[in-house]
Amino acid sequence: MRSSLILLCLLGSALSAPQSFTHVVHERRTAEPMDWVSSRRLERDFMVPMRIGLTQNNLHSLGDMLMAVSQPDSPDYGNHWTATDLVKTFAPSTETIDEVSKWLVESGIARDRLHLSLDQGWIQVNATAVEVEELLKTEYYVFTHPSGQEQISCSDYSVPDHVQSHIDLIIPTVHFSSRPTTMAHRKRYGGVGSPDVKNGPFRSDQAITLEKSDLQNCDKYITLDCLRVLYGIKYKPRATRRNSFGIVEFTPQSYIPSDLDLFFKNFVPNLVGSRPKLESIDGGMLQFNMTGFDYNGESNLDLEYAMGLVNPQKVTLLQTGDEIVGASFNTWLDAVDGTYCTHKGGDDPNFDPVYPHGPPGYTGPKACGIIKPPHVISISYGYNEVDLTRKYAQRQCNEYGKVFSKPIITGMFSLTTSMLQLGLMGSSVFYSSGDNGVAGNGNQCVNPSTGQLDPKGTVFTPSFPGGCPWVTSVGATQINPGSSVYAPESACEQVIFSGGGFSNYFSIPDYQCEQVDHYLKKHTSQYTSAQFNNSGSARAFPDVAANGANYVVAINGEFYLVYGTSASSPVFASMISMINDARIHMGRKPVGFINPMIYSHKFKSAFNDITTGNNPGCGTQGFSATKGWDPVTGLGTPRFQQLLEMFKRLP
Ligand SMILES: *[C@@H]1O[C@H](CO)[C@@H](O)[C@H](O)[C@H]1NC(C)=O
Ligand SMILES: *[C@@H]1O[C@H](CO)[C@@H](O)[C@H](O)[C@H]1NC(C)=O
Ligand SMILES: *[C@@H]1O[C@H](CO)[C@@H](O)[C@H](O)[C@H]1NC(C)=O
Repeated sequence: MRSSLILLCLLGSALSAPQSFTHVVHERRTAEPMDWVSSRRLERDFMVPMRIGLTQNNLHSLGDMLMAVSQPDSPDYGNHWTATDLVKTFAPSTETIDEVSKWLVESGIARDRLHLSLDQGWIQVNATAVEVEELLKTEYYVFTHPSGQEQISCSDYSVPDHVQSHIDLIIPTVHFSSRPTTMAHRKRYGGVGSPDVKNGPFRSDQAITLEKSDLQNCDKYITLDCLRVLYGIKYKPRATRRNSFGIVEFTPQSYIPSDLDLFFKNFVPNLVGSRPKLESIDGGMLQFNMTGFDYNGESNLDLEYAMGLVNPQKVTLLQTGDEIVGASFNTWLDAVDGTYCTHKGGDDPNFDPVYPHGPPGYTGPKACGIIKPPHVISISYGYNEVDLTRKYAQRQCNEYGKVFSKPIITGMFSLTTSMLQLGLMGSSVFYSSGDNGVAGNGNQCVNPSTGQLDPKGTVFTPSFPGGCPWVTSVGATQINPGSSVYAPESACEQVIFSGGGFSNYFSIPDYQCEQVDHYLKKHTSQYTSAQFNNSGSARAFPDVAANGANYVVAINGEFYLVYGTSASSPVFASMISMINDARIHMGRKPVGFINPMIYSHKFKSAFNDITTGNNPGCGTQGFSATKGWDPVTGLGTPRFQQLLEMFKRLP
């Protein structure tokens, strides 16, 4: 199959003399990358694989279309989209393609060097550094990393004012590669100030039986039983063959089979020997060369709890990236949506790892639309929004909106019957909201005088994609020390603080306007617009919350206590997966994107409103959990039975 079409008929004859235009800055890097050092100007004859992302049509109505298909009382509820519909609806206009091509040709790039991607989203051209620098009025530098890796980048770039509105973003330019950070934090079980493993209630060498007494220590040790009591989870999945639940992990993060068994032996004996179904994306594999909390903590936590809660439902592990270059969120998106992948540069070669990339890494074909997206997907990793450019983040966020919220056809353009069937369902995507309160990863915030992230920064630093309006963002709560599992929880204030706040990139989606407005009117007068976008027009997060403190997790042969929205996301997602099971069992469809439903007043009784605790950061106390939605715990924690009943009532 051809992946690109040559732009033959769109253009007039090639011009000889380059023209001059009035240029305007299109993108500028917001924060300098950590650890990368500019080492030299890029060689003049270096061939830059330039990709120009064209402005897509109809994105302004994405929100309306999304609401139409995900709100039960809408006449379009559950209406299905095909890949062809998707391309037709969002493809750039002919005018956009013409104007951008004309600019390139008039600047001296011969028209037969231009290629248009199959979905018409990108114009691609290989051009020398000299040509690109002239086109974009910039200078490229080679940046080196202590590991010896290199990448090219410029700090800003410009385009002629008359084409600016037709261009979304151009790569490779200002975007910088950094891997998503996991949201799990640990405290060694048996470390200073806490009981030693041998004296504690959980032992690594023999199975324990959970007696009632364990439920009396949920404030110190969260287990599956504690979660079941906390959220009222009494449900045994029945439609397991028709349902699906995916957890995404990024290599070198990997689970350890013997750790799963150690956990299961203690808490879910019938799962001993059970493993997630491995879907390998771009060389994704379990690796045991590097072990320890940093390599196994996240995967072990996610799988032990997700598998334990939804048992006997099988969990699919979307293991993404090889050991050499790893992966970004676009890597797994490519694997579940062939139409995103065939952008052929929908990925940013500077920011996203390029697959295949040859030995010693993964050399097989790039994973494009190879996996049917599971009905529920949980991802406990995140970036700071400011690590990404606005345009890069927006493009990826739109993808969540287009693909997962709307039931569409995935896979390549050659549609087979089975692909048609698998595309008839929407998916729910859950991301953890971050572990540093209003601060970013590593507890850093933007310093307004330098524009860089540092520990003394004062500008609140939201996470991504937790702040994308088309995913469900999950914050963290805790059982208060000394409190019972039956008492109300607070926002998590042990080891981590629940990520929450207001996006600087995304505007507020309709579904949360009312609740966010209510919060802002009452509660944030101590902060100014210099700290966060308090206009009421910014996307606010998280949407929901679940416990994120003191999880008992088997890691490298021992139990540790683990903290983070990393735990909250798979736990919340597990409950939605069980709700899908109930709906599928009744002959109905999975719930898909849940936000437009859960913010409705009808769902009020399906959440425990969390009204205590804060999410400090950036030298402040952060926001406070309070009555109603708040930027710490969202709508609150689930009341499983009520949530189940509400969703069962929907068509
Ligand atoms: C650019 O060069 C690469 C490597 O030679 C090639 O694979 C690709 O097809 C070229 N792209 C365009 C748009 O010419
Ligand atoms: C990891 O170990 C496997 C064998 O278990 C080996 O094939 C692979 O090359 C190793 N990877 C690295 C990065 O050392
Ligand atoms: C606040 O967010 C909205 C929506 O994204 C945006 O239009 C507005 O410019 C932002 N305000 C400031 C001061 O950044």
